[in-house]
Amino acid sequence: MPKIQKICCVGAGYVGGPTMSVIAQKNPHIQITVVDLNEARIKAWNDKDLTKLPIYEPGLDAVVAEARGRNLFFDTDVDKAIDEADMIFISVNTPTKTYGKGKGMAADLKYIELCARQIARVAKTNKIVVEKSTLPVRTAQAIKRILDQTGNGVEFEILSNPEFLAEGTAIQDLMNPDRVLIGGDQTEKGQKAIQELVDIYGAWVPRERILTTNVWSSELSKLTANAFLAQRVSSINAISELCEVSGADVNEVSRAIGTDSRVGSKFLKASVGFGGSCFQKDILNLVYIAKTYGLDAVADYWEQVIIMNDHQKRRFAEKIVTTLFNTVNDKKIAFLGWAFKKDTNDTRESAAIYVANDLIEEEANIHVYDPKVTEQQMLSDLDYLNTRNSEANQNHLTVHQDPYITLKDAHGIAVLTEWDEFKTYDWQRIYDNMQKPAFVFDGRNILDRKELEKIGFEVYTIGKGE
Ligand code: NAD
Ligand code: UDX
Repeated sequence: MPKIQKICCVGAGYVGGPTMSVIAQKNPHIQITVVDLNEARIKAWNDKDLTKLPIYEPGLDAVVAEARGRNLFFDTDVDKAIDEADMIFISVNTPTKTYGKGKGMAADLKYIELCARQIARVAKTNKIVVEKSTLPVRTAQAIKRILDQTGNGVEFEILSNPEFLAEGTAIQDLMNPDRVLIGGDQTEKGQKAIQELVDIYGAWVPRERILTTNVWSSELSKLTANAFLAQRVSSINAISELCEVSGADVNEVSRAIGTDSRVGSKFLKASVGFGGSCFQKDILNLVYIAKTYGLDAVADYWEQVIIMNDHQKRRFAEKIVTTLFNTVNDKKIAFLGWAFKKDTNDTRESAAIYVANDLIEEEANIHVYDPKVTEQQMLSDLDYLNTRNSEANQNHLTVHQDPYITLKDAHGIAVLTEWDEFKTYDWQRIYDNMQKPAFVFDGRNILDRKELEKIGFEVYTIGKGE
């Protein structure tokens, strides 16, 4: 196969968009077309006003500004882009199944299969197909079977190239990755395909950071990486509860264990619980895979990470209720943050959704300020839980553009996302305008507790006793 000249990426989401933007920026000689069925999303990717890009990521606008229209294109014509490409990245969503066998656990691969069938139908020349989506181990086998049914002599090589970027730092992670992982067949053709992709990343990633493996190791490494990261958060969150009753301080414990080079300091921040589109989905998928192989002990081990995370979210909501004299009925509870972490507008599986839901069950009125999340998104997140009808959710959720109005007259403030701006607010002004006693529940350990207490607040911090 000649050197790659044209790439198509199916799926213009949080992974496809930023990843292809960086590959295009670093490989100006390769023409990259990112396609999606979602017309509104593609329109937003093409918007001249870079503040209207469909996803918020620091630094993304500059990369798009440089490459878009030069060798980076966003389009809805999926067939055309597939037809012209030498290499096709599949970067579609793989959510947890909501129906049938494996409901609530297995990855829903319907978008992957649709994509594979579309490639099989359209392709007239040999292609390298790259799994960029996170997939269960051995999915490449299914994709290959679908592609090989064409009978028109077109040859496909399947590579696994999972993405390790984290939202909020996607551009930084893509520019300077710890490693790039490429899995492929051990055959001569497989190795050639791997080399094509190595060359693309090699435009900016040092060769020693590009790891090559067999396809199954690559697929399984992605699920494993997320499971390990999430497990660290659940581990420190479990310890946070113990800290609260024992007088230990979870920040001090984190620092103490994190300085052991065998443990390392990252991903040891206690919180209201992890969110995001990946951790829960990928662990559930891992648990499901282990179960299907009959490995119940393995499945139970990893499932505990999710059970602990659910517990952490629930106990935060319960803490708010018990502290507010066992009732939040008709009380104003102000949320700072709705996104699942700072520097993103993504809310998938955000702890804020679950905490809000629990408090609305207790008849609280939730008022929210988040610098990047829209009201429509927050309401749709609550509706998705199906706990009550949309009208009831609307009656209990008010979204503001101004943090000070959000916090005015509140009985309690809950910090759900660690946006930097929350630290710089005029907390004296906030205190003066609140109901007394003025309670703050810091679900992210970002506020200066001593300063707030000096002002007069009663502060609950995750992982710190009274
Ligand atoms: P996303 O929902 O933001 O984007 C997926 C896009 O694919 C959507 O815009 C959807 O319209 C499009 N799509 C679905 N089927 C299609 C089809 N047949 N043809 C054309 N377009 C189609 O999802 P995402 O967050 O970008 O995640 C994509 C994959 O990457 C998932 O498997 C996820 O697990 C994985 N991943 C995500 C992250 C992350 O931080 N979000 C990080 C690493 C890996
Ligand atoms: C994660 C993985 O980090 C990334 O490698 C993978 O490609 C996609 O999934 P992401 O979900 O975007 O990335 O963000 P991440 O930084 O991992 O945070 C996930 C959640 O864990 C967030 O809600 C975050 O607030 C929480 N978290 C993270 C903690 O509560 N404590 C920590 O110490 C770290």
